[in-house]
Amino acid sequence: MEQYAIKGGVPLVGEVEIGGAKNAALGILAAALMTDETVYIENMPDVRDTQIMLDAMQSIGVVTEKVDAHSVKINASHITDLTVAGDAVKKIRASYYFIGALLGKYKEAKVALPGGCNIGSRPIDLHMKGWRALGATVDINGGLICAEASKLVGHHIYMDQVSVGATINVMMAAVMAEGKTTIENAAKEPHVVDLANFLNSMGANIKGAGTDVIRIKGVQKLHGTEYTIIPDQIEAGTFMFAAAVTKGDVTVKNVIPKHLESISAKLQEIGCEIEEADDAVRVVASKTLRHTQVKTLPYPGFPTDMQPQIAVALGLAEGSSMVTESIFENRFKYVDELTKMGADMKVEGRTAFITGVPKYSGANIVAPDLRAGAAMVLAALAAEGVSVVDDIRYIERGYENFPGKLAGLGAQIEKVESDRELQKFKLKVG
Ligand code: UD1
Repeated sequence: MEQYAIKGGVPLVGEVEIGGAKNAALGILAAALMTDETVYIENMPDVRDTQIMLDAMQSIGVVTEKVDAHSVKINASHITDLTVAGDAVKKIRASYYFIGALLGKYKEAKVALPGGCNIGSRPIDLHMKGWRALGATVDINGGLICAEASKLVGHHIYMDQVSVGATINVMMAAVMAEGKTTIENAAKEPHVVDLANFLNSMGANIKGAGTDVIRIKGVQKLHGTEYTIIPDQIEAGTFMFAAAVTKGDVTVKNVIPKHLESISAKLQEIGCEIEEADDAVRVVASKTLRHTQVKTLPYPGFPTDMQPQIAVALGLAEGSSMVTESIFENRFKYVDELTKMGADMKVEGRTAFITGVPKYSGANIVAPDLRAGAAMVLAALAAEGVSVVDDIRYIERGYENFPGKLAGLGAQIEKVESDRELQKFKLKVG
């Protein structure tokens, strides 16, 4: 029984170092097995999802060596199996990146159907359509996605919907296809660009990543590389909102401010001051928050992965706000938890209608999924009294040392593993 015990009401103040982007790391780890030469990756976040990817790679014969907590060496010259199907990989979404990578390199792959957060239906039709367009046969058989091709040939692919996963997965397969591939209506998220940069550093020929048309010229072979993963936009955004909800003053360091623009803009709109430096953003929240409206959109729009965090802030803002989720249909499960803390929120269809309250009160709440889990921690940090956040395994999938980083900003938070530890925490915080 691992939980976070939190005594809220303390304004967070100080600087916090942001780690490497989890969602970029997951694609990059899979792509690292596309060469027989050694790949050295730095700024790898040390979270559960990246560990699951590394374990899965080892299970098929990839040699991985953690040089330190955030650097890893990978050598995939002796892969023994083209099936990735352990229990752990079924729990994460990104395991399907092994298909794009293995199909590209070996023209064959079998990978367990992916899991991930239960935030709505998460089909993989666009991925399959893309691989098929390149000439692969793709079926789902006995819980496995099975893809094979005698050869892959470049093609013009139009994505019906903007999809991060499908863009990355088709891009990986196309990198080693014969001829030219064009992906239209591609996702423009920073981690799509990071993956393209990583593949290019291995000798791939990808142009246009970060725009909605990506052009790829196939190459026969990729080589080793040394690469540093970009900072995590969502981890940074979460700490920026932690400043907002606790009326704090937090500087997120080691970030790319450009990637945070939609988040900074909303924070300014609701009454926070933002100061940007080359690789840092400071958020000062000294006034009562103001209401606003927000709709999640693909990058450069407001990220769906920040939707629960902004809802927590708007729950404490003056007036009525609306949060519309346009990417995933089941991303409001946290509303019941916030209601336990005194929030006034109603969900109708894809929109949450929020009437701000002056404060939340501490409660026992659960993390419904990764990002909503982080948002529950923010609510608890803002609340009066002690809260206990359950199911923190979701949060640990994507946030490295979350309690430690928050404590570094003055938060009263501890990971507890028993009732005794919880009582001890309560006594300590008074
Ligand atoms: C990735 C991120 C996730 C983020 C999401 C949107 C990773 C590991 N996860 O998820 O944190 O919330 O982007 O920014 O990077 N869709 C289809 N068919 C498909 C694929 C997707 O209809 O084949 C739909 C989805 O249901 C969803 C939309 O497209 O409505 C966007 O999903 P997508 O961008 O693919 O999200 P993921 O890559 O799963």
